[in-house]
Amino acid sequence: MAEFTLPANSKIGVGDTYKAEGATNIKTFKVYRWTPDDGKNPRIDTYEVDMDSCGPMILDALIKIKNETDSSLTFRRSCREGVCGSCAMNIDGTNTLACTKYIADVPGDIKIYPLPHMPVVKDLVPDLNVAYAQLASIEPWLKNESPAPERERLQSPEERAKLDGLWECILCFSCTTSCPSYWWNGERYLGPAVLLQAYRWIVDSRDEATGERLDQLEDPFRLYRCHTIMNCTKTCPKSLNPAKAIAEIKKMMVERAV
Ligand code: SF4
Ligand code: FES
Repeated sequence: MAEFTLPANSKIGVGDTYKAEGATNIKTFKVYRWTPDDGKNPRIDTYEVDMDSCGPMILDALIKIKNETDSSLTFRRSCREGVCGSCAMNIDGTNTLACTKYIADVPGDIKIYPLPHMPVVKDLVPDLNVAYAQLASIEPWLKNESPAPERERLQSPEERAKLDGLWECILCFSCTTSCPSYWWNGERYLGPAVLLQAYRWIVDSRDEATGERLDQLEDPFRLYRCHTIMNCTKTCPKSLNPAKAIAEIKKMMVERAV
């Protein structure tokens, strides 16, 4: 039987432990650490956090650790309210946003890793350059050759409603990095986040490039590597349904072919 193992330089070791001396209400965080600067393997550092002086969210604990215990801990965050997508990471085995995930919702020690199957820049910061290039490839902006109206381009309430469930995407890439198809074909398969964005422009009644956009996706890898595994929809911290958006694109492909 084939045996799979991590390359020697990817094996995760045991790191340092930081105690919360004197605290009586402690939660323990086990956090993935890796830096390109020292040539060492990744490790898991353990941080005890005094919950009596910590906010309720995972991001509150990470900020407290960085401010008070270990300033070298590196992670992305900006808005602190689930709208920028920066703080996506793998918490307790699920990709989600650290700023909207309650500490109290995770029983026991809290394990925190970067988004899976992406190169790591440092600690909890994944390298999203390929994902952003894929987003650019679907040209996520309005394409309309008609003369500009005097005021805005109008939509009926029904046309506007088609964008619901799509415009709310914050491009956190939790879905894309939870998708096994993307793990294995990430260079060529666009992944759920980018395909949801593609669909957002395909169904926009103001956009005139629908055929061109579908042509661009008509490819064995870019679209059809989706095998409806549904991890994307299960993990989306904004409760969106990228799998449905992908299915709608596939349906449009069939409809235009018959
Ligand atoms: S669909 Fe959801 S999980 Fe995927 S990028 Fe958008 S907000 Fe994040
Ligand atoms: S900090 Fe903006 S989504 Fe979490």
